[in-house]
Amino acid sequence: MEVKNKIILALDVPTTRKAIEIMDNLSDNLNTVKIGYPLVLAEGLESVTRIKEEYGCRVICDFKVADIPATNEKIADATFKAGADALIVHGFVGEDSAASCLETATKHGGEIFLLTEMSHPGAAQFLQPVSMDIARMGVKMGIHNYVGPSTRLDRLKKIRNIIGEDSFLISPGVGVQGGDPQDTLEFANAIIVGRSIYLDNDPVNALNSIIDSIEL
Ligand code: C5P
Repeated sequence: MEVKNKIILALDVPTTRKAIEIMDNLSDNLNTVKIGYPLVLAEGLESVTRIKEEYGCRVICDFKVADIPATNEKIADATFKAGADALIVHGFVGEDSAASCLETATKHGGEIFLLTEMSHPGAAQFLQPVSMDIARMGVKMGIHNYVGPSTRLDRLKKIRNIIGEDSFLISPGVGVQGGDPQDTLEFANAIIVGRSIYLDNDPVNALNSIIDSIEL
């Protein structure tokens, strides 16, 4: 997976219109976006279809899927039918639940990202004690793509060591949550950035500043 400028834009905006306004200005420098509940619950899965069609970019749906296998299958099926290229899936629910998403993704020619550890402070409370086991489970299952936190680089490094150099690791938490772009890219293949770009008065400049600050 080649992520242009190693930056994935988190499009956590409330309307498709706003997402399009942002993408009209930024799409030359991006080929991958992440769309999650904020946009899809407001505008439906059509927002995924629309962004995909309009910009031809890769769309990762961040639904942090965490249900029983039968329900996960339905969630994944609807997501890929809408045009998503990849789906972010929680690992803590266990191998059968993640496998259900992986099988459904493969059926659609799509991919999954296994979420190991989240980037916010609360992740230390329940998720952190099991996040390395989640990464190990992913390796055992043959999963290629992972999500890990840019806010705890010691842990991101450990996740990288577990999944190996050939796996693809993307990392949110850069900017507002405190993660540094270049430091994160020492371990991650690409960073996920949301508010630092779309909330800036000048999103084009904000994106360009991040691009300038990293070694490509
Ligand atoms: O606005 P900000 O750059 O903090 O956005 C980070 C994005 O990454 C949000 O969409 C958030 O839901 C997501 N995310 C995260 N930590 C994870 C997984 C996803 O912050 N472990």
